[in-house]
Amino acid sequence: MCGIVGYIGKKPAAPIILEGLSKLEYRGYDSAGMAVFDGEKIQIKKSVGRLKVLEELTHDGATMPGVIGIGHTRWATHGAPSDVNSHPHYNEKETIAVVHNGIIENYLPLKEKMISKGYKFTSDTDTEVLAHLIDYYYKGNPLEAITKVMHRVQGSYALGIMFAEHPDQIFAVRKDSPLIVGQNEDGCFIASDVPAILKYTRKVYFIQNQEVVRLRADHMHFYTVDEEEITKEPVNIEWDADAAEKGGYEHFMLKEMYEQPKTVTDTLMPRIKDGDIVIEELGMSDDEIKAIRKVHIVACGSAYHVGVTAKYVIEGIARIPVEVDVASEFRYRNPILEEGAMVIVISQSGETADTLAALRESQQLGYKVLGIVNVVGSSIAREADNVMYTWAGPEIAVATTKAYSAQLVAIYLLAMKFAKVKGTISDSDFTAMLKDLKRLPDQIEMLLSNKERIQRFANRYIGAKDVFFIGRGIDYAISMEGSLKLKEISYIHSEAYAAGELKHGTISLIEKDTLVAAVATQDNLFQKTLSNMVEVKARGAFVLAVTNAGNTDIEKAADYVIYIPRTNPYFANSLAIIPLQLFGYYVAVGKGCDVDKPRNLAKSVTVE
Ligand code: AGP
Repeated sequence: MCGIVGYIGKKPAAPIILEGLSKLEYRGYDSAGMAVFDGEKIQIKKSVGRLKVLEELTHDGATMPGVIGIGHTRWATHGAPSDVNSHPHYNEKETIAVVHNGIIENYLPLKEKMISKGYKFTSDTDTEVLAHLIDYYYKGNPLEAITKVMHRVQGSYALGIMFAEHPDQIFAVRKDSPLIVGQNEDGCFIASDVPAILKYTRKVYFIQNQEVVRLRADHMHFYTVDEEEITKEPVNIEWDADAAEKGGYEHFMLKEMYEQPKTVTDTLMPRIKDGDIVIEELGMSDDEIKAIRKVHIVACGSAYHVGVTAKYVIEGIARIPVEVDVASEFRYRNPILEEGAMVIVISQSGETADTLAALRESQQLGYKVLGIVNVVGSSIAREADNVMYTWAGPEIAVATTKAYSAQLVAIYLLAMKFAKVKGTISDSDFTAMLKDLKRLPDQIEMLLSNKERIQRFANRYIGAKDVFFIGRGIDYAISMEGSLKLKEISYIHSEAYAAGELKHGTISLIEKDTLVAAVATQDNLFQKTLSNMVEVKARGAFVLAVTNAGNTDIEKAADYVIYIPRTNPYFANSLAIIPLQLFGYYVAVGKGCDVDKPRNLAKSVTVE
């Protein structure tokens, strides 16, 4: 996601835009830019790098005089971070400037069409096509041009638009990506989010989908995509500035947990077309997929836990052997990669030193590497032979949640693609799995709405000393992530154990009231895990169980049960992890820990 700010009024626009963008850097920070009308023409300044680079480039806006402007801080999706890919984008005559947050899903066919009409593109972005389309439909009426483009564009967009021929107005447009407008005695404002304009006004209008706003220095008009004028009611913002940056949530981690339905949707939907899975960025033909003899997955931390789940899913449905390694082990193990092996590295930041080293090691051994990465243009994204992005947007909290969930659905898509091409899954099963995949965002949403119950349970364990997470198969992978979420932010010792392995030693640690979280989503292993729960309970443990709705037998062995909606067992990780994320979060909050910035940790471990 990116940050947008626009202003039109009596004051110099550039400083207001820069100040607003600085409040939105959490939304994206790999490049920034501004367009300001200087009385004669639109002046555009933009640069790769943090907002500070733009501030220095424009002397805090002093070199961009004018009272009407739009600005943008970017989180790259299409087109790596660079000066030319930074926003604003503009038409050839530089009389129309656009800033955009979202993804134009049909930008390629639109770009080809515009090129065939003689338009010249300078960037690799999806956004640039909007500037040329608006130019194409502009015959003197900005609103008409904008609405025509809206009828032709698919995807998500929040837009700020300005026209050199109409220096008395700017436009805000919204579909799916958030956008607000506001007004005070000095002018009118556009922003992606409240923090950018809270300093100027607490009375804002939340633009709804397919609405257009024309902002003038002293008033605003609202329209539908059919150019019908509408009236809207303002909302008074009660939040303080800090809370506003977190969208009203207490911590970025909670905000990002609640963004999971969207990040799962954003990662899934562009790759599901006409009942099939299309992963263009995979860079492999069907024959190359059929030739895969083994998959090596290498990652660290939570990304490694995704790899463990991926092993079960890929082996389960595509019947390809999978080996999963933590990158710090892989890189020094003198790894043996077989003929027909494929290497996948998973990384949110794309900068994790061990994972990057594992990628380079694999390439030195002559193997192509697929990166599943969240940060566009990051080192791993640049060096991997192919990149499958998780569209999770910037993840600020050190403890990953929304990127982890996006990585999970990325591997589900991969596994199903492999299975379909290799013919190891029937069409009916494939269709059923696709249906289950599409339901995940709503099911995650439903689980998140259950937070109060989890919070009450978590409050009982603020003083816990040791917590164990157990499971079998995919439930073991879920346990790994549940355990890490708890310990990394609450500082309570926790371990994940293959449930069948406990009796080989660790069960000696179980004593009265030791909390054991048992994950039992895999019906074929349910009875086995139930037995393990009975074993620990017999030794005094308090057993928290996470299982599928309907598995009420579990209440014989569990002291507290969290039921999750049923889905395909291969996808259960995406649902079972939600209550475990919330559990770890609320224990940490209850302990008064710094949830977003836990001690000793960094968001990206760029050193060994
Ligand atoms: C997860 O909550 C941790 N922040 C950490 O384990 C993280 O997953 C690991 O450092 C890998 O980071 P990456 O995905 O950016 O490579």
